[in-house]
Amino acid sequence: MKVLLVDGTIVGRKTGAILEQVKMYIQEFQPEMELVILSLADYEHQFVDGRPLGEYNESMQEIARRFNDADGYIIATPIFQGSIPGVLKNTFDLLHPRTMRYKPVSIVANGGTYQHHLVIENQLKPILDYFRSLVTPNYVYTHTSHFDADNNIINEDVHDRLRELARVFVQYAEMSKHLSKETLDNH
Ligand SMILES: Cc1cc2nc3c(=O)[nH]c(=O)nc-3n(C[C@H](O)[C@H](O)[C@H](O)COP(=O)(O)O)c2cc1C
Repeated sequence: MKVLLVDGTIVGRKTGAILEQVKMYIQEFQPEMELVILSLADYEHQFVDGRPLGEYNESMQEIARRFNDADGYIIATPIFQGSIPGVLKNTFDLLHPRTMRYKPVSIVANGGTYQHHLVIENQLKPILDYFRSLVTPNYVYTHTSHFDADNNIINEDVHDRLRELARVFVQYAEMSKHLSKETLDNH
């Protein structure tokens, strides 16, 4: 089973730091899972405008391929202007609506404002619901104060929540194996 850990920003270090931590915890629960990080900062982005995939640059096509090839996802995002970064939304816009269907997804996020964890509930989860992903009931939102100067997570409660998220994600991944991706409807 291949899981794509998506660092959904092109700036900053904390989003990637949480992702590395989640990767370690998932590995502890399920050493056989193949975990690969996709950092949006490594790609040359183009605005998605509805053209066929083949007309985008190689970078965009590779992002789409890597999403298609994955069996599950960890989406990591910072909060920008009370929302997700434009580059992450642009990436979702690139994908075929069936790409993440019935596949497990967990969310980790970080922001400078405690209250903005609701961005996950009100903005990111609805997008993943549109994709009909198996979104785990728990996500982890971190705040700048949960990190030290080197971007290590220093809050033990955050570590516990990340471990629990990893545990549940592994179970959701198992569940998704038994759920056929073929649908009876045409949507
Ligand atoms: C353009 C921009 C907008 C931001 N808007 C918000 C915001 O609305 N709410 C919030 O909690 N944090 C906001 N932040 C703070 C980022 O979420 C924060 O910098 C990031 O999570 C910390 O990670 P970093 O140190 O890796 O950049 C914003 C940061 C930037 C650069």
